[in-house]
Amino acid sequence: MSNDNAKQAAGYKAAELVEDGMKVGLGTGSTAYFFIEKLIERCKAGLKIEAIATSKKSSEQAEAGGIKLILPEQLQCLDIDIDGADEIDHHKQMIKGGGGALFREKIIACAAKEMIVVIDETKLVEKLGAHPLPIEITPYGHPSIIEKLRRLEVCGEVRRDGEKLYLTDNGNLILDANMGGYTQSLQELDQKILSIPGVIESGFFWNLAGRVVVGYNDGHAEVKESL
Ligand code: 5RP
Repeated sequence: MSNDNAKQAAGYKAAELVEDGMKVGLGTGSTAYFFIEKLIERCKAGLKIEAIATSKKSSEQAEAGGIKLILPEQLQCLDIDIDGADEIDHHKQMIKGGGGALFREKIIACAAKEMIVVIDETKLVEKLGAHPLPIEITPYGHPSIIEKLRRLEVCGEVRRDGEKLYLTDNGNLILDANMGGYTQSLQELDQKILSIPGVIESGFFWNLAGRVVVGYNDGHAEVKESL
């Protein structure tokens, strides 16, 4: 069953949280798409903002809709960042990067005073790890990086795009790691993952989420401080 109704409800509700004069981070993915769509509508109706997107795709959507873009080399502090998630638990810890944009998503989330997460209700989980963990790695020497990850029991598939390897907007690869059976501290594991040379970023987003906008299939959405 498609949950487009829920994604749209969340995305549109999140666009209401943007205020005049704000500098805004624009997320990536199908829920963020609806957020940007509504934000464009609000800008056409007179809202004045500047924004920076977490992917080429979202950047193109925003630019086509006339949103004024901040260049990455000019990025400083943002007022808010509004982005999706693949999983979020009760402590608002997340797995992101299903759309391959995790590296830019983390830079932009960390630059923002608040990261607002937009999700449909299926993204709420008791425990992180059913969704594969995307890990961005350099193409250079990637089998050796994957071997170091394997020694941490972090194993998975290099993401593909048809016949070819999938490349991120940064020209890197994604390893989609299966975290299902991992029982130890994921935060400690993440420190080890990130210390491997050639690992650019992982899809764990610790302590970054502020408010969470949850969309439901009946078409309503709620802004939540806690989950
Ligand atoms: C992209 C992401 C997305 O925010 C995440 O995959 C959720 O996407 P969707 O809203 O399409 O379910 O992290 O890298």
